[in-house]
Order: sequence, then C-alpha cells, then structure tokens
Amino acid sequence: MKPSFWRTRRLYRLLLTGKYQPYVFEGTIPDLPNSLGDIGLYLHIPFCKQICPFCPYNKVLLYGQDVDAYAEAVKKEAEMYRERLQASTVPSLYIGGGTPLASPRHLLDLIAFLTHSFRIGPEIGVEAHPSDASVENLSALRRSGVNLLSLGVQSFQDDLLQRISRPYDGEKAKEALANSMNADFDSVDVDLMFGLPGETEDQLGYDVEYALRSGIGQLSAYPLILFSFTKMPEILARSTFPKASWRQEKKMLQIIQELSKAYGYERTSIWTWTKKEKAQYTSVTRQDFVGFGAGAASRCSNVFYSNTCSVSEYVKAVDTRKLPIALSISLDEKDEIAWWLFWAAYRMSISRQEFRRLFNRELDSEFGLYLKALRYLGILKEEGTEYRLTDNGGFLFHLVEQGYSLDFLDGMWGALSSEAWPKRLVLG
Ligand SMILES: C[S@@+](CC[C@H](N)C(=O)[O-])C[C@H]1O[C@@H](n2cnc3c(N)ncnc32)[C@H](O)[C@@H]1O
Ligand code: SF4
Repeated sequence: MKPSFWRTRRLYRLLLTGKYQPYVFEGTIPDLPNSLGDIGLYLHIPFCKQICPFCPYNKVLLYGQDVDAYAEAVKKEAEMYRERLQASTVPSLYIGGGTPLASPRHLLDLIAFLTHSFRIGPEIGVEAHPSDASVENLSALRRSGVNLLSLGVQSFQDDLLQRISRPYDGEKAKEALANSMNADFDSVDVDLMFGLPGETEDQLGYDVEYALRSGIGQLSAYPLILFSFTKMPEILARSTFPKASWRQEKKMLQIIQELSKAYGYERTSIWTWTKKEKAQYTSVTRQDFVGFGAGAASRCSNVFYSNTCSVSEYVKAVDTRKLPIALSISLDEKDEIAWWLFWAAYRMSISRQEFRRLFNRELDSEFGLYLKALRYLGILKEEGTEYRLTDNGGFLFHLVEQGYSLDFLDGMWGALSSEAWPKRLVLG
C-alpha cells in the first residue's frame, strides 16, 4: 500500500496548482539556459567510512573508491558550467555528502578549484562527521575559506548512538563539538535527530541543552525518518523499540522549541533554530542552485534535475563531456509557485514582498482564501509584510515535510539508487 502521505502530496499539488497528475521525470538531458544569473552551488561528496542504516543520501563506502578520478570528474563537470556561470555571482557554496572530509586532501583541492573558478561568497559551508572533526582538519577547512560548519552529532548519548550504529560515543561527539567551536568558524550548526529508538524526553532535553549551551550558531533537529530503501525500518521492526508516535514527536518538538527560545535561538525553519545575528546554515532552501557530483540535484529557473547517483557512471559520463543528468522535470509557473510556497512554509515565513518580486503577482490575490482559512485555523499569523507559521502550523508542516520526504524523496532517491540512468520516473 502507498503511504498515506501520498494522498497529502497529491492534495497539496491539487490545491496549489489545480493539477492532479503525477510528477513525470524524463531520463533525458534538459535544455539549460546559456546564462544562469545569481545562483547557489552545491557539491556532493558521496564517500563514507561507514554506512549508517538510516541514511537516505547518495553514498558509497570510501574504501576501494577512486577518489582521484571522482575529484577530477567534479572539476570537469564544473568546467561544463563555467560559461553559463561566467556572469553570475554565487552567494553560497555548500558541500555535503556522504562525508566531505572522508578525504581531506581531495576536499581542500576541490574547494580551491571552485573558489578560483567562480565568484563565491559570502557563504561556504561544509558538513562534518564527528569522527573527522579533528583540530587539524577543521583548521585546514577554515584556512581554505570555509566559514560555516555543520556537525552531524545526532546525539551525545552512547546508547542512542549505538542503536543507530554511529561509530563514535558521546564523549567523542562532545570533543568534535569543542574542536568545531574552537576553530573560529562564523557559525557552527549541530545536527541532532529526535525520536531515535527508545529515546526519552529527558535524553532529548539533555542533547539539546548540551548543544545550545556550547554557544553554537544553529541547532538542526530532524525527526528520524524511515526511508523504505534503507535498513532502518527493518532494524526497528526487529528491535523492542517502536517508532516514535506523532504525539511523542509533537512533545519532543515542543521541548526543542522551548529550550531554544530560552537560550535565545529563533526558529528559522521547521527543523532549525538559529542564534540571533548568526548566519543560517541552509543548503536546501535556495530558489535556484546548481549541484555538482554524483546524485547532486539542481534547479535552474524552470528545470529541476538530478545527476546519476552511480559514482562510476558519473565519472564515465563526465569523461565524455556529457552532463551527468539522470532525471529532469520542467516546472510550469504553477509548479514554481507551489515549490516556492513549500520552501517558504519550511522556513516558517511567507513573504508578500518576495512573492511579488519573484512572480510579479500579489500573494493575497492569488491565495487570499487559503491564507484567510489558515489564519482562522491558527496555522498562520500575519506579521508586518509576511505570514509566519504559528507553533501549531510548525507542527503541521513538520508532518507535511516528513510526508514529502517519505513520498517524493523516497521515490526519487530510491529509483536513482537502484538504476544509474532510469528512462522515466512517474511519482504519484
Ligand atoms: C548528509 S547527512 C550527514 C552528514 C555527515 N555525513 C554525518 O553523518 O555526520 C545530514 C543530516 O541529515 C540527518 N539525517 C540523515 N538521515 C536521516 C533520517 N533518516 N531521518 C532524519 N534525519 C536524517 C542527520 O541529522 C545528518 O546529520
Ligand atoms: S549519515 Fe553521514 S556518515 Fe552515515 S551514511 Fe549518511 S552520509 Fe554517510
């Protein structure tokens, strides 16, 4: 049976675009504009020293991989975009994975290459795994121009880390955080997961407070999402721990929200809390972005596409000077508006001015009835020139975002991880 969120997504599309058809991705390379304007860059490094059972991202075991060939392929792919990006300023470069620091030498080489090839700044962000967050690695990153760090802690507690097969303990996670805080980044983000197998509210409170008390710039706290193509659903089914219910998740979100507020952090998205005057680490909410690397996604004006997830096929395609795009979909204006509204709601703030700037229309004339209903239901409130999600709205969208992950991402990443070059993908 399809997950029940399947109906939620279809309903979302119907309500916002008037369309009830499924999304159809084609296995062909789309026509891209000759000039891309100002755009964010993302680089995907798919290597990990150990594979975590819950992880949906595109990754392979590092050992036995030809990382030299991969790094060369990324440079060639970036070259293919050089003309299109010639006139662009690139406000942000985010590097994620996988674990970008799996091979520090290759990572530093790629950062140097990209910062020389494009006009990048002010944000350069990198994800770090606690096992790689040594003083030496972090100071090399800082010297290379990286100013934002996201540390994948997940929890500071030995039992929870063991249940999700993370290869370090709480002490090591704390040491990684101390190293990150001492490395002079403009902002350090800590990723925690909540609703981990058997996690209590006290354990979550401890993790959140430990992170906030260290003075981090941002806390990201994600509910454990069970992607069907990972091992986690089966591991959980075999264990004595049930999946956290929506009521437990609601309580946990409340705990995170209250602690963050008490420590002076503001909710900047459904799952992030940022300290005032600190930069936000946000690799997913840009309007337009180009992704380099195996499995990286891009959105260039009205085209959304994903590179092949196969590392060897990625290297082969780029070697023949072919863009390594595996699936793409064109968005019409209604889809673009629905996309924008989705990410605006994720950021908890729907700005009339931004809507006007992007679509040359008035938000209230397009969606007046919905906005009124959402305000009446206590999901949105008006604040100056924007609508903000209330705490209840934040919880509702936490469910919608999980539904999107379970439906859209599970379908797309599941298909791309089982086939290098799918002919077509119909979602819905
Ligand atoms: C690319 S991942 C991990 C970065 C780095 N490789 C690491 O393991 O620390 C980014 C973040 O996504 C979150 N994440 C990964 N899988 C998840 C899942 N199944 N459900 C919820 N959050 C998840 C984790 O908090 C993780 O730190
Ligand atoms: S969570 Fe991080 S370390 Fe674990 S498999 Fe995913 S990308 Fe690799």
